[in-house]
Amino acid sequence: MRDRLEALRGDGLAAVAAAEDLDKLQEVESRLLGRSGALTAELKGLGKLPAEERPVVGKLANQIKQALQEALHVRRQELEAARLAADLAGVGVDPTLPGPPLPAGGVHPVLAIARELEDLFSSMGYVVWDGPEVETEANNFDALNIPADHPAREGHDTIWVQTEADEARHCLRTHTSPVQVRALRELGTPLRVIAPGRVFRQEAQDATHDHTFHQMEGLVVDRGVGVPHMLHAMQSLLEGIFGKKLETRLRPGFFPFVEPGFELDALCPFCDSGCRVCKGSCWVELMPGGLVHPNVLVAAGLDPEEYSGFAFGLGLSRMAMLRYGIDDIRWMMSGDLRFLEQFKA
Ligand code: DAH
Repeated sequence: MRDRLEALRGDGLAAVAAAEDLDKLQEVESRLLGRSGALTAELKGLGKLPAEERPVVGKLANQIKQALQEALHVRRQELEAARLAADLAGVGVDPTLPGPPLPAGGVHPVLAIARELEDLFSSMGYVVWDGPEVETEANNFDALNIPADHPAREGHDTIWVQTEADEARHCLRTHTSPVQVRALRELGTPLRVIAPGRVFRQEAQDATHDHTFHQMEGLVVDRGVGVPHMLHAMQSLLEGIFGKKLETRLRPGFFPFVEPGFELDALCPFCDSGCRVCKGSCWVELMPGGLVHPNVLVAAGLDPEEYSGFAFGLGLSRMAMLRYGIDDIRWMMSGDLRFLEQFKA
């Protein structure tokens, strides 16, 4: 039996070394060490040996088993490495080459301006806030001093949401101004907040009107806030967008939630003699604003004798159009890659 075991060792090691692929090696392994393999058969015969020989032969059998297992392990690693190298060589892969370029996205022009303004206003202590796009009639209109019979409501071409007769009426917000109401309620005073976001109007679309566009609201409420503070905020904003100081003027304007209300114009940022944007007058209407109407403060639970504030409303879509020379607002929400890919830088 000892001779047979020694022969098994020699043949076994030779067979392992000769196995030229992983499948052959698997075969060799089961032939030697498997349940009906050669070594297993020998071990079964151990019991028939005389008692004094058993430990010696048993020990030898175990050594041979270990030697074979080790040889199998080493050979398996060699064959696996060889297969990997062959695979890589076969398909001509050079793992040090860079991968194919991933298409990079860009920032939408409206988002680009919104982010810049968020940075700018955050640095001046403003909070960036938002409200829902489906808004209550009360927040979108009533709390902003626009009662049901007010003609200003008609100017808004509201998209109403279907509700039950006993439910509060909801609409798609027609402006970002309802965030004024929410911020006052949720954040309290003193308050400095901007609110960029999407707004909706039921409008016939043309180059300057779309049913979906972007605005940014600004609101400051504290003790002793007045027109100079408003002017400073609005001018900082324009500087942020156009990258230079613009000469501005205030004209009276009417909005139910501010008193007095203004329109801020600036000398055309693009020319000094009349161009497509300013149409020769050289003044461009840039944004409305005003001092918060006492009724809005009262609706938010504040005493207008104690608190005052200013608000402004920026047409973010319009600003993006001005800054990038975009001539049709409908590009903005088009999702058209020919348009968007121009803003990749
Ligand atoms: N919400 C107004 C609109 O969409 C714009 C506006 C005007 C906002 C005056 C203001 C403001 O905050 O003070 O037409």
